[in-house]
Amino acid sequence: MAKLKVTEDTNQEEESLFVSLRAASWEDFHGQQNIKASLQIAIEAATKRGEAIEHILLYGPPGLGKTTLSHIVARKMKANIRITSGPALERSGDLASILTNLEKGDVLFIDEIHRLNPTVEETLYPAMEDFALDIVLGKGPSARTVRLDLPQFTIIGATTRAGLLSAPLRDRFGVTHRLNFYEAAELGKIIQEAASKLKVKIDTDSIKEIAKRARGTPRIALKVLKRVRDYAQVKGGGHIDFASAKKALSMLEVDEKGLDPLDIKFLHAIIDKHHGGPVGIETIASTISEDSGTLEDLVEPYLMQLGFIKRTSRGRVATKAAYEHLGLAHPEDKSGKQGKLL
Ligand SMILES: Nc1ncnc2c1ncn2[C@@H]1O[C@H](COP(=O)(O)OP(=O)(O)OP(=O)(O)O)[C@@H](O)[C@H]1O
Ligand SMILES: [Mg+2]
Repeated sequence: MAKLKVTEDTNQEEESLFVSLRAASWEDFHGQQNIKASLQIAIEAATKRGEAIEHILLYGPPGLGKTTLSHIVARKMKANIRITSGPALERSGDLASILTNLEKGDVLFIDEIHRLNPTVEETLYPAMEDFALDIVLGKGPSARTVRLDLPQFTIIGATTRAGLLSAPLRDRFGVTHRLNFYEAAELGKIIQEAASKLKVKIDTDSIKEIAKRARGTPRIALKVLKRVRDYAQVKGGGHIDFASAKKALSMLEVDEKGLDPLDIKFLHAIIDKHHGGPVGIETIASTISEDSGTLEDLVEPYLMQLGFIKRTSRGRVATKAAYEHLGLAHPEDKSGKQGKLL
């Protein structure tokens, strides 16, 4: 039977499903308690002052709710939200036309903000700091700059790679929040609510099993739920019970801890090819022919969260827990018996 990948790109149909399941209010948004509390205070304070909320930077691994949070903030501010992304803003003019069309209090959401082109980024600095746009009129010696005033607005920037943001850009955000992976219980609530919106019956054990395998990520939990639902509709009369959930989950390429083939490949590269580390990320990347940025964004955060790898000054090291998870003996155990390292 063909295996299905859950962490790969989302297709169009799934994307629209996620939009329909998107948490629309604080009550629907589970977990990330600190971020929620801090945003709620910021919104209340800004509303009282009759001002726009300060610029917010959200970062963290994909699928943890950055886009969702931005929509909730805009909604609570009773503001319009305009959505764009770093790569979509090719020229300063693209940004200028968006900015000049904003109304007071509006939210401009810039996804993948680490991918802004440097000239566009420079246009953004005065816009964020002084709500002003510097426009160059004419060319050559007669060129002059005029400053246009913009209404007070809020930028919400989202990125999976805060480390790639330039310091001047990062400094212009009033608040920065890092989203963390979710606890299984929080994912359980998300799955339960999604199931009721999708009008499928699901039992507690199945919810727990899906939550456990979802890599701490709501988007993956919802994706898995959808696959399990499809399976149950075809094979199990529409009802998701533990047996059908288990069967559907066994078709997905995620193991008991939610690791997918790339995670496993990454661990094997450290353990089998580099004696468990320490080994640099670039070396691991070339060992498994992957882009090092992808590994840093998608693979490492979760493996670190599980305590399967450690980052040291000399590179990445696989921990004893990682060896155990793969059913391998750790070098320390072996050296006791055989007197030699792997
Ligand atoms: N805390 C949450 N509670 C309920 N649902 C959530 C939560 N966080 C995310 N979701 C759901 O998970 C899906 C993915 O979330 P979202 O698109 O906001 O992630 P993201 O961080 O923007 O991801 P990316 O980096 O890939 O853009 C959405 O359908 C959203 O409704
Ligand atoms: Mg997003």
